[in-house]
Amino acid sequence: MQIVILPTADDVAAYGAQLFIRQLTDKPQSVLGLATGSTPLALYRLLIRACQQQEVSFANAKTFNLDEYLGLPADHPQSYRYFMQQHLFNAIDIVPANTAVPDGSATDPVAACQRYEQQIADAGGIDLQLLGLGRNGHIGFNEPSSGLRSRTRIKTLTPATIADNARFFAPGEYQPHLSITMGIGTILDARKVLLLATGANKAAAVKAMIEGPLTAACPASALQLHEQAIVVLDEAAAADLSDIEFYRHIERENQALLKRLASQ
Ligand code: F6R
Repeated sequence: MQIVILPTADDVAAYGAQLFIRQLTDKPQSVLGLATGSTPLALYRLLIRACQQQEVSFANAKTFNLDEYLGLPADHPQSYRYFMQQHLFNAIDIVPANTAVPDGSATDPVAACQRYEQQIADAGGIDLQLLGLGRNGHIGFNEPSSGLRSRTRIKTLTPATIADNARFFAPGEYQPHLSITMGIGTILDARKVLLLATGANKAAAVKAMIEGPLTAACPASALQLHEQAIVVLDEAAAADLSDIEFYRHIERENQALLKRLASQ
């Protein structure tokens, strides 16, 4: 795991946006894995700006979102498809047919999960997967106890996640308790994984993910198995890490090495 600790949430977004821009510059036909939630919003704003200023293009890219509520149609304002249209897709030059979000209104959701896995495979696999982090350590909607090799499937949300996401629903509005989510195995298959976490309310989950044991009790700890996982944190989210000075030291060494290699 590469651990990058930056002063603010804005710095985290800027770092993440640069990684996406570099990915698309190196490989315009990249397959990108995307997330919803509050964390990636600032990153998406930066990507929109970069696209509008023609610093980056999504015209040849494909995207796959991590998850979707089961039981919400795509045009429901709380669906993750709707979120992506509003916060990214409508404002960039991506081909609409090249954006995939699990089908929350599928009549046969089990078959829809298998189809999603097949679509990812047919696209050649995910090059760069963006992740947020749940306060309980979830990635996608892989809640604690999720199988570490799981694939796209239907998952029940924990009461904690339902409560965390209740802020997006009007009082009394129907809020789904089930989701379709890429599995942890699906996420681990991505060539590169970028997890962003900001704010003090993520500090305990960040510590469990990085310094805790590899365990289904903290699904994000599965990233310890990934060859190219980059975790980008603001100071608040990193605050509980015991070895924080060591992670800063490694990152300084990495940067110095990169500089040396670039100047040769
Ligand atoms: C979203 C997703 C979730 C969120 C996580 C953090 O597609 O899969 O795992 O990334 O719940 O959400 P925020 O960013 O709202 O704190």
